[in-house]
Amino acid sequence: MSFLELKNIKKSFFLNKKEFQVLKDISLNFDRGEFVSILGESGGGKTTLLNIIGGLDSQYEGDVLLNGQSVKSGSEKGLDAYRSKTIGFIFQSFHLISHLTVLQNVLIPLEMSSMSRSQRTKRAKELLTQVGLGDQMDKHPGQLSGGQKQRVAIARALANDPDIIIADEPTGALDSQNTNEILEILEKISQQGKLVIAVTHSDQVAEYGTRVIHLVDGQVDSDKQLRDKADDVKKDSKVTINHLSFMDNFMMAMNHMRYYLGRNLLIIFGLMIGIFSVVFMLGLGNGVTGYMNHEMNKLANPTAIQVSKNSTSNDPQMSEFTMKEKDLNTFKKIKNVKKVEKGYFADTVKLSNGKKNVTAQLFQTWNETIKEDDITTGNKPGKDEVVLVKNDAKTFKKDYKKLVGKKITLYIGALDKNKRPIQIEKEFTVSGILKGGTTSVDYQTLKTLYAANNATLDPNFATLKVNSTPNVKAVQTKIKDFKMTKDKKKVAKYTLAGVGALIDTLTTYINLAFYLLAAIAGISLLVSAIMIIVVLYISVSERTQEIGILRAIGARRKDIRNLFISEAFLLGLISSLLSVGFAYILQALANNASQSAIGTAIIQVSAGNAIFGIVVSVVIALLAALAPSRRAAKLDPRDTLTNE
Ligand SMILES: Nc1ncnc2c1ncn2[C@@H]1O[C@H](COP(=O)(O)OP(=O)(O)OP(=O)(O)O)[C@@H](O)[C@H]1O
Ligand SMILES: [Mg+2]
Repeated sequence: MSFLELKNIKKSFFLNKKEFQVLKDISLNFDRGEFVSILGESGGGKTTLLNIIGGLDSQYEGDVLLNGQSVKSGSEKGLDAYRSKTIGFIFQSFHLISHLTVLQNVLIPLEMSSMSRSQRTKRAKELLTQVGLGDQMDKHPGQLSGGQKQRVAIARALANDPDIIIADEPTGALDSQNTNEILEILEKISQQGKLVIAVTHSDQVAEYGTRVIHLVDGQVDSDKQLRDKADDVKKDSKVTINHLSFMDNFMMAMNHMRYYLGRNLLIIFGLMIGIFSVVFMLGLGNGVTGYMNHEMNKLANPTAIQVSKNSTSNDPQMSEFTMKEKDLNTFKKIKNVKKVEKGYFADTVKLSNGKKNVTAQLFQTWNETIKEDDITTGNKPGKDEVVLVKNDAKTFKKDYKKLVGKKITLYIGALDKNKRPIQIEKEFTVSGILKGGTTSVDYQTLKTLYAANNATLDPNFATLKVNSTPNVKAVQTKIKDFKMTKDKKKVAKYTLAGVGALIDTLTTYINLAFYLLAAIAGISLLVSAIMIIVVLYISVSERTQEIGILRAIGARRKDIRNLFISEAFLLGLISSLLSVGFAYILQALANNASQSAIGTAIIQVSAGNAIFGIVVSVVIALLAALAPSRRAAKLDPRDTLTNE
């Protein structure tokens, strides 16, 4: 049994359903230690045969047996393993990967081995020294001569210590001196007990081998032994092959990114714009909402809602405004409402102290929406007491604080039991002064006062106390959803009055602005994503050769896909980390400015926002890489390695 056997190999190409038979029944046996030259006219099928031997092509009739075992009987995985463990490829046009250094090119096949990093580097350096390139290891292929490039390719082919070296016109692109040197190296390789199969056009080159095979018209025309082959020394391979590890993939991706720095910086920049705007907008949203809440909490009690009835009338004494027990019970049943209080407001109230008179801007009964913190002097009103607004108090007395404890007369317009207008007059004690807001008295006091004047006090608003701030919005929505009955089915039954309503409108505007900003950020993100897809797609077309080489040295489709995905992952990660960093820097600057302007930090990028940005960026990059990486993995290594 020979080491390598070709059994009745037939291969045809089909063009428009017409069959072109390229190889017609080829049977050959090879052994270790042989240096076989294959000669033949151009288009005679030499490359086709080498592809079959090398496991790049499995679409043929007949069989290739290695140590008696068919190489194509296994799966595609098996063929990948065969290429990476048994075969070393050398091409006429070298096919080195231009963005990797000489040393890194030789390291590629080893990256699929289970050796440690230092062992791999040691082996690659040894091989390069063997082919006479010990001092060129850090150059890139573009900086080497043709002969030097081919030596790198030989070192790379030997890296995995394969048993078979396949060379397709290895000296085709070289001058005679370099040709001789390369052939000597190949001869040495065969003498070390490997099988070397080289295709050539030149009889002179063929003379170097131990055996010459002529292919004519797809058949073996002659098969001549020139000299004895080297001893068939069977030895165990020094290298165990696995597949590209995660780390190796990453290192290769890093190398590629470094070499094409300009383009990758561009992608990173594009993605950064998108991610930065998203993260920054989120931060701005947090900042503005925080600022607004803070400001509004200063203005009013955030958990208190003031509700009145929707009415076409603007006279608060009209019965349309009256809050009935039924209304109050409705409010009590709303989820998260802790307390419901009756309230009354009037618009015709005069205050009098001695000779001075003031018409109260606003007058209402004390309720939860008024903040006790706003009382600068004194306390909230108790029985027969009134709280004055600072501005009104000032007209009575310059040193308005001294009014606390003094008496003030109130004249309140009301209707008696017969609906006739009357004026209620009553002396109150000033219990405190409010910074702003409304003149207020205690509800119970007012009710008793009305009764004493033959009038009834019907509440014309209600104050709802909600158990916690986050629930306020839901309660407000619920109230706004109650509709009038009968003919006015679409009209809201209640209106929200006071600061609570203002908060609600403001929040709506803030949300609107926020969505607008989010939309802009989203669009820039989309543009970034499209950009990455385009660049990665171009990158695939540009790197077909590299992909072919990787496949030829045994990389699986999965490895190719992972390579592209690793690159995209890195791009996404780097972009987002930079964006987040940038957002934090800008946040510091913006907040510095806003602190002095409005006394608060207007941008608040939270850790959650930052993580969100990073995740979105990586996900976008990975999604963008999906199609290109699949395309790359699908490429046929034979097509990618043709010289054109
Ligand atoms: N993918 C393909 N599709 C169709 N025909 C093909 C394909 N690859 C090769 N051929 C045809 O098969 C024949 C043999 O091609 P091959 O490349 O093996 O020749 P060769 O002996 O290596 O030639 P050269 O010395 O010029 O490299 C040619 O006629 C070529 O046109
Ligand atoms: Mg060829």
